Amino acid sequence: MPVNSRREQGKDAAVQGTNDSSVVSKVSAAAQGYFHDDFLKHFVCKVSRRAPLINRGYYVRWKAVDHCLKQFFHATQSCSRRQILSLGAGFDSLYFRLHAEGALGGVTVFEVDFPEVARRKAALINSNTCLKDMLPDRETVSNQQTNAVFIRSGHYNLIGVDVRKEQEVEVTLSGAGLQWDAPTLVLSEVVLTYMETQWSDAVIGWAAKLLPQSVFVMYEQIHPDDPFGRVMQNHFLKLNSTIHALKQYPDTVAQTQRFIQKGWEKCVCLDMNQFYFDLLLEDERQRVEGLEPFDEFEEWNQKCSHYFILTASKGSVTNQALLTLAKVSSIPHMTPQWTERPPLVIQPMCGSPSIEAVGMASAVLAPGIILLTGGCGRSGRDTAARVLIKEKDGWKCACVDAHGDKVVSLYQTLTSIPGGGAVLFGGRTSPLNPTDSVVCVTFDPGNEQSQSAVQLSFRNMVCTGTGPKPRWRHTSTLICYKDKTFLFVFGGRTEK
Ligand SMILES: C[S@@+](CC[C@H](N)C(=O)[O-])C[C@H]1O[C@@H](n2cnc3c(N)ncnc32)[C@H](O)[C@@H]1O
Repeated sequence: MPVNSRREQGKDAAVQGTNDSSVVSKVSAAAQGYFHDDFLKHFVCKVSRRAPLINRGYYVRWKAVDHCLKQFFHATQSCSRRQILSLGAGFDSLYFRLHAEGALGGVTVFEVDFPEVARRKAALINSNTCLKDMLPDRETVSNQQTNAVFIRSGHYNLIGVDVRKEQEVEVTLSGAGLQWDAPTLVLSEVVLTYMETQWSDAVIGWAAKLLPQSVFVMYEQIHPDDPFGRVMQNHFLKLNSTIHALKQYPDTVAQTQRFIQKGWEKCVCLDMNQFYFDLLLEDERQRVEGLEPFDEFEEWNQKCSHYFILTASKGSVTNQALLTLAKVSSIPHMTPQWTERPPLVIQPMCGSPSIEAVGMASAVLAPGIILLTGGCGRSGRDTAARVLIKEKDGWKCACVDAHGDKVVSLYQTLTSIPGGGAVLFGGRTSPLNPTDSVVCVTFDPGNEQSQSAVQLSFRNMVCTGTGPKPRWRHTSTLICYKDKTFLFVFGGRTEK
């Protein structure tokens, strides 16, 4: 596929748009205190607040890249000339924040992006006192139509060129002063995946060939074939910015092999759960986890399993900049050690309707009738409860209006009552809005011929005494004691 076809140009414009959305998300995470960056805000028109899950996603991405940068600085501290080559840099503020932190230590930064993006970035820098004051020796290149170097200065160079055009990149970078034999960190933060894999493979190959003392740092997506992976791919497809590499390189092992095959000597690739749980220090995790109300743990875990951070090195100096898991894993060994056959056999429900959501509650109302309430699926929350009814040829699902708010919440418990029915307790709409309501669910099974005519009724129960605090993610069990039946509620999370 030629790089310059009209169809490709349309796609390139959409890919350039991904920069605008990622910089807004980074600004949101910085504004909530996930990381410190005083410069990103100069690259957006308006500061927007993203959801906590998005903020955490951008935090872990930022933190992983920052970790690799600091490791590179440490490994190369005795070298007189060091460089960062950021491919598809977009509106990244890397140079400005590292310079302000005093962490740059004479490293020269080369940022490359499409000419359209580099032109916009150069205009933003040139019109902002705070940014341009940090580049006192800058030369602004006047004819940006014909010259690919848009800003040139002692330690910062902004270049507008398509990284798929290897020869153009090589000539322009040489002209801008990149020294190919100096220790160099090549950064690709969610960039190469937007080009067809033949191109991204070529970029990984030319970087290995041209930079004999370097470390390649890459952050992008993996695991295309599970439900989360499919939704993730569709999201980018709708934006006309398809993500490509994960089809051919679907996991961390495939990505590692890819880099070795393309000429890199060593490679370490971690998914973001490994990075977050095994590499970050406990104190840092606690700091981050206290920033915003948050309990979407399953989604967080899933999200982290769909992104990776990779370091690949060439040459002896940069070997030391590879990622290492020095810390002993804090995740306990979860594989059950069966002494005999497992006591539980999981069987798919024949003809079962597909219901996919997190935070649902379920209980058996009567033999062959299961009630499901609450939860949040891919299309959001559903106020209807669902009843699964076992019929001769499989399971049938019926939606039941349950008067909205009683079942709209997440992470409530539903406990079967002997003789039929169930008790619903707790749950939350948001982490700031848990409930302590106790709802009795009774049902009328309808006539024998048509169980699908099940009628449910939801009734708030009035409780005496001091009940448990509003909570979610707890457990509930019925306990009979001295002729009385108690709902025993244990654990979970409360607002505090
Ligand atoms: C998702 S943004 C990431 C920006 C930045 N790396 C960050 O993480 O904040 C992807 C960037 O890659 C750039 N890009 C994609 N393909 C490119 C190519 N072939 N040549 C140059 N830049 C490219 C886009 O223009 C865009 O700025």
